[in-house]
Amino acid sequence: MMSTQTDTSKKVTVRRLVEMKQAKEKIACLTAYDASFAQLLEKSGVDVVLVGDSLGMVIQGEETTLPVSVEDMLYHTQCVAKGLSNALLITDMPFLSFTSEQEAVLNAGLFMKQGGAHMVKLEGGVDQAETVSALNKNGIPVCAHLGLQPQYVHKIGGYRVQGREQAAADKMLDDALTLQAAGADLMLLECVPESLANKITQALDIPVIGIGASAGCDGQILVLYDILDISLGMRPKFSKNFMVSANSIEDAIQHYVSAVKKAEFPAAEHVFS
Ligand code: KIV
Repeated sequence: MMSTQTDTSKKVTVRRLVEMKQAKEKIACLTAYDASFAQLLEKSGVDVVLVGDSLGMVIQGEETTLPVSVEDMLYHTQCVAKGLSNALLITDMPFLSFTSEQEAVLNAGLFMKQGGAHMVKLEGGVDQAETVSALNKNGIPVCAHLGLQPQYVHKIGGYRVQGREQAAADKMLDDALTLQAAGADLMLLECVPESLANKITQALDIPVIGIGASAGCDGQILVLYDILDISLGMRPKFSKNFMVSANSIEDAIQHYVSAVKKAEFPAAEHVFS
């Protein structure tokens, strides 16, 4: 008799990500904003797909991520979810969509219930610990985002490496431990010096995903359109054009996954000291 149960053995789950960290198996992540690319990413071996609020810049042509709305994120999450069967789907909480615990739970709930997301990502340090805890209590997995937080671009006066001074580095490690204790399931570090990224990765039990951080992180993420070299404006130093040595878009994505899995990406020229 045919089984009516879904084969869950290939599903990437929160538990599977922790097992990958423990087994030192690198986690390959990329952003996606539509079903066709999502399907191609999964076919190419990507473990985690992020519907990033970077869509404000690469899809909508905005200068920052700030104009992105909850409705935009929900729409693109629904599109991406239709292209995935096994990869873990994370949706970014856009600017000002988590100003209170209640607002955070309602919006994150929308991304999970109507969008098909498995986890939400939010920018912020210790100030967001109670929000992370509220999401955790309501069964909503969370990826915390430290280092460069693009939603704070006007506060910090541009996109720059974070945590270079000792006090800032100590605070980031403290923030990471506090967010983990509050229930975060995953940590993303953006534009952080290599040595600090390694220290945080070793200090946390939850997996740490780097972007402009270190090959020593448990996994890597990049913006899809940057690796395909079709983003508007300049590609950041920490990214790499994987189309250069590829025959097709699928080939480029496979090269990225393979480079992450073998810890060949990021190389020295993609990280900060
Ligand atoms: O919005 C996004 O795509 C992100 C990645 C750059 C990590 O947050």
